[in-house]
Amino acid sequence: MGSKRVGQTQTINRKMIWTIGGGKGGSGKSFITANIGICLSKLGVRVVLIDADLGGANLHTFLGVSPPALSLPDFIKKRVSHLREVLIPTGIPNLQLLTGAQDLLNAADAKSVQKRKLVRSIQSLDSDTILVDLGAGNSLSVLDFFLMSDGGILVVTPEPTSIENTYRFLKSAFYRRLKQSVSSSSVKALIDGAMDRKNEMGIQNPHDLIKAARRMDEGDADRIIEEVETFHPNLILNQVRSKKDIEIGFSIRSACLKYFGIHLHYLGYVVYDQDVNNSIRRRRPLVLENSRSRAAQCVMEIASKLANHH
Ligand SMILES: Nc1ncnc2c1ncn2[C@@H]1O[C@H](COP(=O)(O)OP(=O)(O)OP(=O)(O)O)[C@@H](O)[C@H]1O
Ligand SMILES: [Mg+2]
Repeated sequence: MGSKRVGQTQTINRKMIWTIGGGKGGSGKSFITANIGICLSKLGVRVVLIDADLGGANLHTFLGVSPPALSLPDFIKKRVSHLREVLIPTGIPNLQLLTGAQDLLNAADAKSVQKRKLVRSIQSLDSDTILVDLGAGNSLSVLDFFLMSDGGILVVTPEPTSIENTYRFLKSAFYRRLKQSVSSSSVKALIDGAMDRKNEMGIQNPHDLIKAARRMDEGDADRIIEEVETFHPNLILNQVRSKKDIEIGFSIRSACLKYFGIHLHYLGYVVYDQDVNNSIRRRRPLVLENSRSRAAQCVMEIASKLANHH
């Protein structure tokens, strides 16, 4: 995290921080985070999984690990001196778990110094890839984490409700990013106004926004163009039941471009598969328990795409 942000071009051999969020409760974020983490670790990538779900942290269950005795608050409250001391071994080579990060997302803005410090500690961990399960929320903290990461991944299911939530999340994240990038207060107010589709200024898309911003501040208009061009979030479509469902990923991608000017990258889909439920009930990760299942194959394919970022 840091200078590089969602979707910017990746350089070889640098630590990647991916955040997984959006969609809706139960879309499969934790299942996908845990199993992609395992796939990457099997490819020789050193992975740390971070559970930052405010609602119900349960990543450990997907890994078959008991609720950990040590977690992030032990580091924040200085009961241990280094973040690596609260990393939980998972029994899987190259894969460690950090829980309790929901406390960080809960922290009020006053603690932003503490947040930045923690982000630096996370960056200093001895690993190649960090996957953060953000849960289903879209609080400002969650959006900020999503925007600070190198790659933000949204997990959506083919249901209209899940798709709606995804658009809402993306729009909020995108406008927050735009607002953070500009300096003039009138352009900031313009962006706030543009969030409302029925805004009186008639701003319907980034093109309209840029035109209106240019009348106020040339530099800010250029900054918005830069942000529009470099915001490349990723999408995973989960619980796909038909060929038609697979197409939904492409439709979301087109709609994002048309209505928001957002270049969404469709990373791939995961089929709906009863083996997923079976593996969760047995607390045995799908890609280990049943690597030949259709859902496991889909997850492996997506993981290998992420591995190419190293
Ligand atoms: N590809 C799939 N095939 C079948 N069932 C699935 C699939 N993906 C997820 N599920 C089911 O959906 C349930 C919810 O998955 P998961 O807990 O990963 O969602 P989540 O997005 O993390 O939810 P929350 O937002 O509540 O944290 C799982 O218990 C599993 O039964
Ligand atoms: Mg979850």
